[in-house]
Amino acid sequence: MRISVIGCGYLGAVHAACMAKLGHDVVGIETDPAKVAELSDGHAPFYEPVLDELLKQLEESGRLRFTTDMAEARGSQVHFICVGTPQKRGENAADLRFVDAAVESLASHLGPGELVAGKSTVPVGTAARLADIVRESQPAAMLAWNPEFLREGHAVSDTLNPNRLVYGVDSGSEDDPAVALLDEVYAEPLAAGTPRMVMDFATAELVKTAANSFLATKISFINAMAEVCEATGADVVRLAEAIGVDDRIGSKFLSAGIGFGGGCLPKDIRAFMARAGELGADQALTFLREVDAINMRRRTRVVELTRQLCGGTLMGQRIAVLGAAFKPESDDVRDSPALSAAAQLQLQGAVVTVTDPQALDNAAKRFPELPLEPDMETALDRADAVLLLTEWKQYRELDPHETAALVANRRILDGRNVLDPAKWRAAGWTYKGLGRP
Ligand code: UDX
Repeated sequence: MRISVIGCGYLGAVHAACMAKLGHDVVGIETDPAKVAELSDGHAPFYEPVLDELLKQLEESGRLRFTTDMAEARGSQVHFICVGTPQKRGENAADLRFVDAAVESLASHLGPGELVAGKSTVPVGTAARLADIVRESQPAAMLAWNPEFLREGHAVSDTLNPNRLVYGVDSGSEDDPAVALLDEVYAEPLAAGTPRMVMDFATAELVKTAANSFLATKISFINAMAEVCEATGADVVRLAEAIGVDDRIGSKFLSAGIGFGGGCLPKDIRAFMARAGELGADQALTFLREVDAINMRRRTRVVELTRQLCGGTLMGQRIAVLGAAFKPESDDVRDSPALSAAAQLQLQGAVVTVTDPQALDNAAKRFPELPLEPDMETALDRADAVLLLTEWKQYRELDPHETAALVANRRILDGRNVLDPAKWRAAGWTYKGLGRP
């Protein structure tokens, strides 16, 4: 099939490459010429395992190209909308200006029978509004909402082997012509037995926001338990293991730590609350305010625990922060709990050095005042305390004896509860985890 992918940021670049991998003829359309140049050269403008390899492979196949020219969308049977929906500055609501601009500029190029398929995470009600814009310009074109559930760091495999396909279509029914087109796009995952669900626009939009809200709630739930564990001397890691074996609860997304960040969970729960407010259903989601508040409290807790570790004051203490990305296998620092804690520590007088294997360029753009050090050993040099805040493999595998030789004081805060406390204590370290005795 001929497919266009509009917006080649994180979601779009991965989607375009994966659609070409499935055998489709794909054009990625992106307003930023620098991104187009990088992608055309076989490089992703961000770090994502296996994506560069895939882009290189596809470059040779001729099935994937990138352009800034929207007119090149002409003739595609399906046009995926993959632009960002960031949080509005100073507000909770999502900023829909990129989605609106993408659909408006695509509309005049649409032909009869073509499908516009939205993948961006949008407030409920957006698809119905965009469907009107599409129909006004080309009465025989269609719109569907087909949310994406990929995780950063696993984006390619999540797209090629999705755990479900959700189609929101105008009629809400299986015989909607948009369903057959989407089935043709995803023939390969469907053949592999991926569950596929057809529903109305609003439900499809809500599936995505509800899923992310549930995940955020699960993390904040276990972090709330960590707060209680801290007050009682119990161990949240053992608690999570024990409740997680009940498969009604499940063991995934029960890791207590410094909380969730990234470009999705924080902004999606806030946008969901804002939208519910507009719809007069704000009471239904007041619990999400608490989910957000628990999450933000973890960052402050890191600062408090670091102060305790350093004997009651942060002033002049050399702190090595391991990790800047919001999670490992990503260079994304949007709403990164690690950087937010590092910045708070610096404000309170600590001499902070942040290291990360991938995310320092992005960290420098967002936190120009934070000293960043690509070499981990240099970052650890003469540290008074070490904070493991993003659980990259190389930090999880740190040796307490080798690390001891670098630092001034053997104090470690394990913000992700990934180290073995007994091993570190045996090597003479004062070890603190989150929600652990
Ligand atoms: C998330 C959803 O998982 C994905 O389905 C959706 O499409 C986009 O949002 P992502 O933001 O890539 O994906 O990251 P995810 O792996 O979900 O982690 C989110 C955050 O939660 C990270 O900061 C991570 O460190 C944190 N987390 C996750 C925890 O603190 N504890 C956990 O147990 C799991």
